[in-house]
Amino acid sequence: MPVTESASETTRSPLVFPPGFVWGSATSSYQIEGATAVDGKTPSIWDVFTRKEGAVADGSNGDRACEHVERYADDVALMADLGLGAYRFSLAWSRVMPNGGSQVNPAGLDFYDRLIDSLLAEGITPMPTLYHWDLPQALEDKGGWVNRDTAAAFAEYTEAAVTRLGDRISTWTTLNEPFVSANHGYVTGEHAPGRTSMAEGMAASHHLNLAHGLSGERIRSIAPESRLAIVLNFTPVEPATDSEADRIETHHRNNLENRWYSDPIGGFGYPQDSAEHYEWDQSEVLEGDLDIISAPIDLLGINFYSRNIVSADDSYIAPPDTPRNTMGWEIHPPSLGRLLRDLHTRYSFPSFMITENGAAMPDEVREDGRIADDDRLDFIRAHVEQVHSAIEDGVPMEGYLVWSLFDNFEWAWGYGPRFGIVEVDFETQVRTPKKSAEWFSAVAKSNQVTFEEQDHG
Ligand code: FCB
Repeated sequence: MPVTESASETTRSPLVFPPGFVWGSATSSYQIEGATAVDGKTPSIWDVFTRKEGAVADGSNGDRACEHVERYADDVALMADLGLGAYRFSLAWSRVMPNGGSQVNPAGLDFYDRLIDSLLAEGITPMPTLYHWDLPQALEDKGGWVNRDTAAAFAEYTEAAVTRLGDRISTWTTLNEPFVSANHGYVTGEHAPGRTSMAEGMAASHHLNLAHGLSGERIRSIAPESRLAIVLNFTPVEPATDSEADRIETHHRNNLENRWYSDPIGGFGYPQDSAEHYEWDQSEVLEGDLDIISAPIDLLGINFYSRNIVSADDSYIAPPDTPRNTMGWEIHPPSLGRLLRDLHTRYSFPSFMITENGAAMPDEVREDGRIADDDRLDFIRAHVEQVHSAIEDGVPMEGYLVWSLFDNFEWAWGYGPRFGIVEVDFETQVRTPKKSAEWFSAVAKSNQVTFEEQDHG
């Protein structure tokens, strides 16, 4: 089903993006690397969590995943063929600093060193994220993100990574989606480490913010030429009805899901009424913390997938006939355009990039030897159109990275949901670009979206 009317239009003029607009793809360490126990790497919370009965839908884990550690050179060549200009990946903390300690592991860093050099040789900008959810298990054993010391350990790890790799990195990203780390990891328990306490989730949220700030200080001092970024996820919320109860609930959900990180980083501190609503006494917030957290960033990375309809009785609902991905997430591109305008209005961050956007789709139709994923293609195009319209409205958008380059390990869902623009056969590890990859490649190479050949819709 086309997700916008544009799919049936054939006469629209192309959407041309500003010169230098960046088209690329994103992945993360645990979801694609494999090699979880080689060259001195110690277990992360995901290595441990995936062994728990019932933690992952299909009982799988990231032991092999896409074998990116072994196959990175071919993977970079594939990105080059597709004409991608940037590759966002993450570093596995326990590869770089085994057990999250203070001892640097050069063998672990060697992999990222080689990866970065191969990307640069192909003219692809490496965009490393220091933390995409794979905390060293040894740090979890000492309290994980509930323990303030984890933020200090993250700064040490940052120093090791930036010292070794920083001469070739133009933008460092501290954290990926700290909301999900704190909420899914410590409140709902659906992600590693699988804890279920609101109070611990609140403590974790502050220590993640602090970790960002402390890490940013190291990046600034060791690599002053580099830009500093953080990647946050945003899920715009709307009340299910106009009732006061639904509107109040929506307000607090918005603060928790969409402002808990951007507000302190943007200099507004924590939303106080919602801190009270969620009974957080803020005892973890020590003097000076908010200054560390609100030091200027150069780029805000935005991960966008869906919106939430909120009702006071906590039953999230969306119109029954709304299009959804295979995980049930509502497909609602206009929420992205609105979000971008709102972020630009509210904060003074100098630049924005879509650092993840994409969809898990059924991938059942095969034509010409590859998956004909018109639904994913339509999804990406509809969201790219929203980015273009935000640019026209003056929002400083510098790029769009699709989630994901590959089908990969989708956390608690295992290998069921397929987000890749490139298919991965997990038996043979063969990579096959899908129709959406061909389309995205043409967009990346021409820096524009055309509407002439819309016979697939
Ligand atoms: C985001 C995560 C990413 C991936 C997508 C589908 O929340 O950052 O790793 O799982 O969702």
